[in-house]
Amino acid sequence: MEDEKITSPELENNEEENLESSLRPRHLNEYIGQNKVKENMRIYIEAAKKRNQPLDHCLFYGPPGLGKTTISGIIANEMNSNIKITSGPAIEKPGDLAGILTNLKENDVLFIDEIHRLSKNVEEILYPALEDFSLDIMLGKGPEARSIRIDLPKFTLIGATTKAGSLATPLRDRFGIVHRLELYSTEDLTTIVQRSSKILKIKIDKDAAIEIARRSRGTPRIANRLLKRVGDYALVLGDGNITLKITKHALNKLEIDELGLDEVDRKMMETMIVQYNGRPVGIEALAASMGEEIDTIEDVYEPYLMQIGFIARTPRGRVPLPAAYEHLGYSYQTNMF
Ligand code: ADE
Repeated sequence: MEDEKITSPELENNEEENLESSLRPRHLNEYIGQNKVKENMRIYIEAAKKRNQPLDHCLFYGPPGLGKTTISGIIANEMNSNIKITSGPAIEKPGDLAGILTNLKENDVLFIDEIHRLSKNVEEILYPALEDFSLDIMLGKGPEARSIRIDLPKFTLIGATTKAGSLATPLRDRFGIVHRLELYSTEDLTTIVQRSSKILKIKIDKDAAIEIARRSRGTPRIANRLLKRVGDYALVLGDGNITLKITKHALNKLEIDELGLDEVDRKMMETMIVQYNGRPVGIEALAASMGEEIDTIEDVYEPYLMQIGFIARTPRGRVPLPAAYEHLGYSYQTNMF
């Protein structure tokens, strides 16, 4: 199954959740990277506290594994608020959301992951709740129907999504704070790997931390997962300390190449170069050729390949760039004719 791959940022099982929550920073000053988001949030949080008001509703978007849940937890913590965590697909009916909203306390943070997956009926309940902290409930049907309005406590909604473009405009417009989370630099990921190994009580050499960071596709969730697996190799094949040599050995065994690419990345570029001969290809055709989900390609694979300049999006479709040909050992010129 695709989701079981070590480089898939979407893999989440119990072990993974425990790993993530034990490594999760609790305060803004422990959170590494995303400086723009951090500096802005610091101001908004302080202003809200000075006004004695809940923070405006926030929307965080960007590829999976970059810390949308983490930063939401930090915001709640810095606001001295409680956080309730749910997700778009978990809220099936308007009544489910009404139940959640009426159970909130003043100043609570409600975190909805994958908010783009809320159904339309549910979304409609959310609008007055966000706008004037009220809930409109319809009683009865037909000519007898009437609606009653219930006041809700003042709360902050934090929405997270990998697909800001799929959010209905009226919903997007109700967030006062909107931030895109970016892929992390190798330097920031190195610091994250070093911080995590300290928490996990694993000794790691600086060059080994850099190597893990370089192969983590700009994604802390992947970096932490690789750290754990490399730690296993270090324990079994060495004395438990992570050296560069052990790291390279382990990552090669995991079939993660020098740039952190796995077999799906390579297959995707290979399909574009060989099957489509480098011509623009639509996402549907590409997904069908590879036997992958469109969403997985768009959310998981494409962002990093675009970031490192291996593929580009054009109005006519995706194209492979010269760096991709070189990485896979194809000649760019030959393919142009
Ligand atoms: N663990 C995962 N993401 C992190 C981040 N941005 N800062 C610190 N630790 C992290």
